[in-house]
Amino acid sequence: MTKTAKLIIDDKTYEFSIITGTENESGIDITNLRQLTGLITLDNGYGNTGSCRSAITFLDGEKGILRYRGIPIEELAEKCSFIETAYLLVYGHLPSLKELDRFSQGFSDNAMIHEDMKHFFEGYKSGGHPMGLLSAMVGSLAAYYPELIKPHPSTAEIDIMIVELLSKVRTIAAFAYKKSIGEPYVYPRHDLRYIPNFLNMMFSSPAKHYEIRPEAVDALQCLLILHADHEQNCSTSTVRMVGSSKANLFACLSAAINALWGPLHGGANQSVIEMLEMIRKDGGDIKKYVAKAKNKEDTFRLMGFGHRVYKNYDPRAKIIKEKVDALLKALNLHDPLLDIAIELEQIALSDPYFIERKLFPNVDFYSGIAYKAIGIPVNMFPVMFAIGRLPGWIAHWKEMTEDPATRIGRPRQIYTGLLKRDYIPIEQR
Ligand code: SDX
Repeated sequence: MTKTAKLIIDDKTYEFSIITGTENESGIDITNLRQLTGLITLDNGYGNTGSCRSAITFLDGEKGILRYRGIPIEELAEKCSFIETAYLLVYGHLPSLKELDRFSQGFSDNAMIHEDMKHFFEGYKSGGHPMGLLSAMVGSLAAYYPELIKPHPSTAEIDIMIVELLSKVRTIAAFAYKKSIGEPYVYPRHDLRYIPNFLNMMFSSPAKHYEIRPEAVDALQCLLILHADHEQNCSTSTVRMVGSSKANLFACLSAAINALWGPLHGGANQSVIEMLEMIRKDGGDIKKYVAKAKNKEDTFRLMGFGHRVYKNYDPRAKIIKEKVDALLKALNLHDPLLDIAIELEQIALSDPYFIERKLFPNVDFYSGIAYKAIGIPVNMFPVMFAIGRLPGWIAHWKEMTEDPATRIGRPRQIYTGLLKRDYIPIEQR
């Protein structure tokens, strides 16, 4: 028996079916609302609007639950590798040994980028933000690998495109870093796995030996897993919107990288460190900044705090905080910003303003401290978020393209402009 919702407008009653997901989340199906009633809904920021059905990630914001294909994030962060997690998100199951070997081999075989792409790096303005370079380079992959953007690629061609992207974006990110510090590019090595290869491309150079510390590999593995997907967030919804017009996957990912760049989204990890530095330079007066964050007249916000969905502690923030402690201890480092972050969290979480609004630390609050400890510069933090989120973006693109119910995204609006009026010739204005 399908549950329904009744809508009474003037003296007419309309009924709409209520659909329920596997975790008992329910929604009113308003697919025919305008056709039946002539009305649309309005929902700024889509906080109450479902854009699709998806089987990839489940979030429960009230309980602080996050699962990829049903597996709790805590288990994946502890027991899984980033490559396995990517396979799980994209293909829906944990890979067998044979599947994982084939998938990993694809990363090694496709780690290089076309040598001509280096001219892009040469032409990019030194000091430009690496996210701008990353989105440009990912979009331009369509020009270098046209065979991968055929209108109706086969499953095998899609599989190759996925591995190409997951592997090449890591190389592009490392090259973008080398470009930003004026050092020569370090090429991927066939003998290194995904994360050690990335660290080597980032930090080794002809002039100095770089030791790939297992603690750094472990921390980065965990961070990338925690960032791998998060259902219909801003950048993933961008992938679905752009992909709904049948734009190629490279174009979708380039758009997603730009959406992620925003300081309210993936750019927040960079803003958190800048905020903690600002507090430190200002004498560590944390109470002053908590007051600023609460003051409506002040545009300052506590970066790394708050979330559209989590009204409980972001489960990822909890894991990252533990990982940061272990990493700093293992590397025998002390970061004063961590002390400030911990004190800031304690003060905020005991303050009624934050308690009433259910504002907790989110994934970005501690991640920057881990990246810093590994040696990754602040402007590369959003790039790290993009590398982590890539499997999730690809998984949602694949799910959307395989869903026969997918239509081109085209929201409506409530017009608030001027009523009909005539053109006025310039001499009469
Ligand atoms: C990510 O969607 C995802 O899943 C994103 C993400 C992912 O994995 O993809 O989890 C990654 O983007 C995490 C969020 C990173 N951004 C930040 O840390 C930036 C700081 N946070 C905020 O800007 C804010 O909390 C958002 C953007 C995250 C959420 O914004 P909402 O849901 O639109 O909430 P809101 O702006 O309507 O705020 C509700 C109230 C307001 O106060 P009132 O008007 O009710 O008095 O809470 C206040 C806000 O002023 N508020 C904050 C605050 N966040 C919200 N006040 C001070 N500091 C903050 N950080």
